[in-house]
Amino acid sequence: MEFSTQTTASLHQIKTSALAVGVYADGVLGPAADTIDRASNGAIRAVTKTEFRGRAGATLVLRNLAGVSAQRIVLVGLGKQEEYNARAHAGAEQAFAAYCVAAQLTEGVSTLVSLPLENASVRDRARAAAIAAGQAAYHYDATFGKPDRDARPKLKKIIQVVERADTAQTQLGLREGAAIANGMELTRTLGNLPGNVCTPSYLGDTARKLARDFKSLIKVEVLDRKQVEALGMGSFLSVARGSEEPLRFIVLRYNGKSAAAKKGKAAAGPVVLVGKGITFDAGGISLKPAATMDEMKYDMCGAASVLGTFRALGELAPALEVVGLVAACENLPSGKANKPGDVVTSMSGQTIEILNTDAEGRLVLCDALSYAERFKPSAVIDIATLTGACVVALGSVNTGLFSKDDALAEALLAAGRQAQDTAWRMPLDDAYQEQLKSNFADIANIGGPQAGAVTAACFLSRFTKAYPWAHLDIAGTAWRGGKDKGATGRPVPLLMQYLLNLNA
Ligand code: BES
Ligand code: MN
Ligand code: ZN
Repeated sequence: MEFSTQTTASLHQIKTSALAVGVYADGVLGPAADTIDRASNGAIRAVTKTEFRGRAGATLVLRNLAGVSAQRIVLVGLGKQEEYNARAHAGAEQAFAAYCVAAQLTEGVSTLVSLPLENASVRDRARAAAIAAGQAAYHYDATFGKPDRDARPKLKKIIQVVERADTAQTQLGLREGAAIANGMELTRTLGNLPGNVCTPSYLGDTARKLARDFKSLIKVEVLDRKQVEALGMGSFLSVARGSEEPLRFIVLRYNGKSAAAKKGKAAAGPVVLVGKGITFDAGGISLKPAATMDEMKYDMCGAASVLGTFRALGELAPALEVVGLVAACENLPSGKANKPGDVVTSMSGQTIEILNTDAEGRLVLCDALSYAERFKPSAVIDIATLTGACVVALGSVNTGLFSKDDALAEALLAAGRQAQDTAWRMPLDDAYQEQLKSNFADIANIGGPQAGAVTAACFLSRFTKAYPWAHLDIAGTAWRGGKDKGATGRPVPLLMQYLLNLNA
């Protein structure tokens, strides 16, 4: 994908086979459409009064307009302007991505003019445009016998309209957006790959590749069962034991701080990102129903978002220190699998009664969270497709955010709004901890039918006493079901925005 900047005034002089511009409902033209309209002596306004009403997703092709260099102008409907802006800012959907997708459905559209997002800084706007364009250009064909060439996205170039002398900020935003989009691409593909391809070892190899691709910035260690045993991760091991597929514990280290910069400031600890990497979750002995069990290949999307974030970090090279931890294994039923009632000992020493083997995410995360202590982190953020209850509570609009640390929670919420990848804060009151009482161990791994997303977070909180911590439940946001089934790449934009803001 190529990104460039251009002032509104010269848009009509762009030589391309097709140029897409957005048009709001009721004949409201944004600056780009307005420029083309003026240059063509009212060709756009003429049709918005008749056959083109700007309905969201509608398109209309105008050919050989006098005064316009592009061979075709593709009008893309955006719906009502207030609603477009509201949607774009609520982050409910990447409105701009929808625009990109609609635009490229028109044969030959390879150049697209980005839209003005009102009330956002030039840099935020450019970043959002680049992210959305990357999303629209995503295409999965890794596991088709014969990939469909026609189905490949055609979007090649995005032109960011600049109002004044904002070029530098725009370029910066575009560079950030492109890196985030590339991170999301990795996250989405890992999520979409089937469980028999994307195994724990595959995640380990992907992490190793990141370290090769960004040699000076990213270091990796991939631990196997023996090393995990030596660490005493009895809880993680108990889940992995149910499967033939060997486990992996991945430790990524990104260091973008030069030695000189380090000397200057008293080094605050790194941010640690911890990802749930269940490459397939059948539920274990507490087996899941068959109907949509295939979707449980996405149960490693937390891990994939950590790897995607590291790719974006590698490409952007910000002056930060970030650690990524991934606990990866399968959750399957077998003669060696956990049984309801089993008691295991976590790395922290706390014992856990496993009342439901399908609550396995917290069992692998708790040991990774204990491991995180050694980095003396300034903050730890875990990312997990943890509970169906979170999907019930928040749907696919907001990621569930749980934290006792108000400053950390606020920073993550703000980053989500800024990146149009929103989260919603959920409660974490001590009163919910009651539900995790066990008669036979320090803690039970489920808290009963009420407040399932909260008790899952409460479980994790028992292992996070040593540092500021936040938990992101992405069960509803990391992928879509139904016709458009697939991984979304969330919450890579939120995580990257949070990290970039640390340097702002
Ligand atoms: N991976 C699932 C959570 C999940 C469910 C994600 C549906 C996306 C959609 C997790 O391991 C799980 O099975 N959680 C159980 C917990 C329960 C047994 C307390 C759940 O949510 O049903
Ligand atoms: Mn499960
Ligand atoms: Zn799971």
